[in-house]
Amino acid sequence: MKHIICNYKMQLGVRESVALARGVLRGIQGQDVVPAIVVCPSFPALAEVRKVLVRSHVELGAQNVAAEAPGALTGEVAAAQLADIGCEYVIVGHSERRARLNETDTMVHAKLEQTLATTMTPILCVGEDAAQRAAGKAEDVVERQLTQAFQGLLWPRRRRAIVAYEPVWAIGSGTPATPADCIAMHRTIRHVAHGLLGVPAEDIVVLYGGSVDGHNAYTLLRERNIDGVLLGGASTKLHECLAVITAAREVMEAQRV
Ligand code: PGA
Repeated sequence: MKHIICNYKMQLGVRESVALARGVLRGIQGQDVVPAIVVCPSFPALAEVRKVLVRSHVELGAQNVAAEAPGALTGEVAAAQLADIGCEYVIVGHSERRARLNETDTMVHAKLEQTLATTMTPILCVGEDAAQRAAGKAEDVVERQLTQAFQGLLWPRRRRAIVAYEPVWAIGSGTPATPADCIAMHRTIRHVAHGLLGVPAEDIVVLYGGSVDGHNAYTLLRERNIDGVLLGGASTKLHECLAVITAAREVMEAQRV
């Protein structure tokens, strides 16, 4: 199974998010082989998008979650509240939040803990920046992010662990990492996550994110250790999003996965 996570970021209003989600459903209608698709709109659109997705194969995710349990914390949204409105996934530790909102590894760890206390599955984002890659430190950085995020968590049985490898230099740049770079880093991520969580290897899903679009998706998705992709910009354009879904379907049909 290949996975496609659509991260609308702070780009779309409620009506646009609903229209896009409807377009995705129309695009996959009547097809037998469909990848696992998660749509992550902004908070204000979650409830309306959920109505569109009910009784479909497509699932709902949030883009962020509070690091604390429900309580007096103005402006934050707790994991329990997200689960309550029907979210099944939540993106944790996106590089935009780490870099621009000073989200630390400690906060990322707390957000994972909060998420795991609900029925939701976290999608942990990790990835090095350009200077770290140039210095040959990409693997060290990702290993450290994984360790600080996962160490000490009691991972619920049967809950999958989803990690998105998102090199900062590839996000929004128009140039994705090469399949070879992804393969090497995904191997490290799977190994480290397995060691830290004890989750069976088949329950660890490793995605790639950063400038994936309809043109390059197939070459990434055909690699067996790239379990799927996390889309930013491409997910907000229906034709691009459907082209990526088609690429995933073609790979799944060819590989019978
Ligand atoms: P992009 O964003 O696809 O627009 O590069 C990916 C991401 O930030 O998750």
